Amino acid sequence: MADNELPVDQVATMDLNDDAVQRHQFSDRVLIKSILTRPDGGAGLAGQQVRVGGWVKTGREQGKGSFAFLEVNDGSCPANLQVIVDKDVADLGQLVPTGTCVYVEGMLKNPPEGTKQKIELRVQKVVDVGMVDPAKYPIPKTKLTLEFLRDRIPFRPRTNTIAAVARIRNALAYATHTFLQKQGFLYIHTPIITTSDCEGAGEMFQVTTLISDADKLEKELIKNPPPSEADIEAAKLVVKEKGEAVAKLKSDKAGKEAISASVTELTKAKENLARLEERSKLKPGIPQKDGKIDYTQDFFARQAFLTVSGQLQVETYACAVSNVYTFGPTFRAEHSHTSRHLAEFWMVEPEMAFSDLKDDMNCAEAYVKFMCDWLLDHCFDDMEFMAKNYDKSCINRLRMVASTPFERITYTEAVELLENKVEWGIDLASEHERYLTEVKFQKPVIVYNYPKGIKAFYMRLNDDLKTVAAMDVLVPKVGELIGGSQREERYDVIKSRIEDMGLPLEPYEWYLDLRRFGTVKHSGFGLGFERMILFATGIDNIRDVIPFPRYPGRADL
Ligand code: 4AD
Ligand code: MG
Repeated sequence: MADNELPVDQVATMDLNDDAVQRHQFSDRVLIKSILTRPDGGAGLAGQQVRVGGWVKTGREQGKGSFAFLEVNDGSCPANLQVIVDKDVADLGQLVPTGTCVYVEGMLKNPPEGTKQKIELRVQKVVDVGMVDPAKYPIPKTKLTLEFLRDRIPFRPRTNTIAAVARIRNALAYATHTFLQKQGFLYIHTPIITTSDCEGAGEMFQVTTLISDADKLEKELIKNPPPSEADIEAAKLVVKEKGEAVAKLKSDKAGKEAISASVTELTKAKENLARLEERSKLKPGIPQKDGKIDYTQDFFARQAFLTVSGQLQVETYACAVSNVYTFGPTFRAEHSHTSRHLAEFWMVEPEMAFSDLKDDMNCAEAYVKFMCDWLLDHCFDDMEFMAKNYDKSCINRLRMVASTPFERITYTEAVELLENKVEWGIDLASEHERYLTEVKFQKPVIVYNYPKGIKAFYMRLNDDLKTVAAMDVLVPKVGELIGGSQREERYDVIKSRIEDMGLPLEPYEWYLDLRRFGTVKHSGFGLGFERMILFATGIDNIRDVIPFPRYPGRADL
């Protein structure tokens, strides 16, 4: 059998040389990564028969249309595989448009001396093609801005940048689980639908079926108008007549069958009347009671929202199994049109029993450093892409943060350093945060012990009674990356904090119970996952580091 006729499954696992390329376990192909990311750039695989699949980045016909060069990418790594197809193997015009999906089989060969790549694929058979009409393809070949791509969400991942961001994001999620699992944290899935406002800031999206129910009812009532009073009177009359008929049969000592048939008719008439009376009560619009919306008629029989943070719920587990974290989507209905805010973003929230603010800061610092090291070890090629195209300093920034102890200053010290640009008691603005980390210290800074008036009710009151044991981690390029605190574990103190802030006690009773029964010193923080990606990649806008961005006025797909 000639080399090129060997079935791929035999060849790919065959030891042509010591390091035969591995076929992907769940598809009939090899990943381009397993060819190109070897130390020899794939050169040692020459002579091997493989199948690859991917999308054409650029394609061009050469030699007066006698063959075509395709740069093919399957997303497994940033690099493209150079693929060469002769005109007698396939219709080259179908293969070259950018975005075409090609699934091809052939022999890996060393390219001629002096070319950039170490290996290329000579195609013997085109297994399948997903064609593209270049005139209509949503992602033209020209250099595209990230802003332009935001209008083409389904095709964004076909670009080098968004694919690299996806790999970096994936690596950071893996690093997060690895770091926390190694330290014995349990991953807890906290609810997305919640009835408590964690930050007490009233920036929650409401979850309700009242509006769609009202819409449905309105349509239904147009189709099937409610019964009029005359309809009901008529139905009442029928009931009366049927009742009299039954009574008459009984007094006439009629047969059992006749009576029972008459009773059945009476029952039907009563049911009909009940249905009409029920329907006559239906009113279009949102149900009201005492001039307010009647949430007892809502899906959960009370008001419900999308969570702004899983912290309060995850605390129930911290106060039982000690070291836990939640990592999920969170939602904020703030109308911020900044490059650092999303309406839906992901947060990593560790929570530790028997840990104070200092332990919390130590954990946050170790976690951020771990992620920096992880990217340098696992995503270096993507980081090089980012350095080349977006931010020259991103790799050095990761190295610096991984190896430099974070500065730690109190809020009061921060205000002094800001030379009276901020009055004590006012929150730091993002330009102040960035000044501290980018200009003043040129490394991550943890600001702690904030005035109680600007922080959430659950943060532990310090002995000065003016500040709380809060901490924010500020990093260059982003500003606030993490917000955390030691939690108030004293029942009386937290109760009066809730009251002082003008929040209702009722929704927080279960949270207060954690302080009533077996309370424990504990602390935790939340890391904005997209902000971490901004920090790592140097990309400017948070809308470009989440696959499906949601922000005021926009929620595509
Ligand atoms: O500082 P925040 O509001 O803290 C909390 O929600 C705490 N309950 C966390 C905890 O202690 N478990 O939010 C935490 C982080 C911020 O530091 C920021 O990085 C990010 O979440 N963040 C946002 N990211 C994107 N878009 C938004 N709208 C964000 N709001 C906060
Ligand atoms: Mg914060």
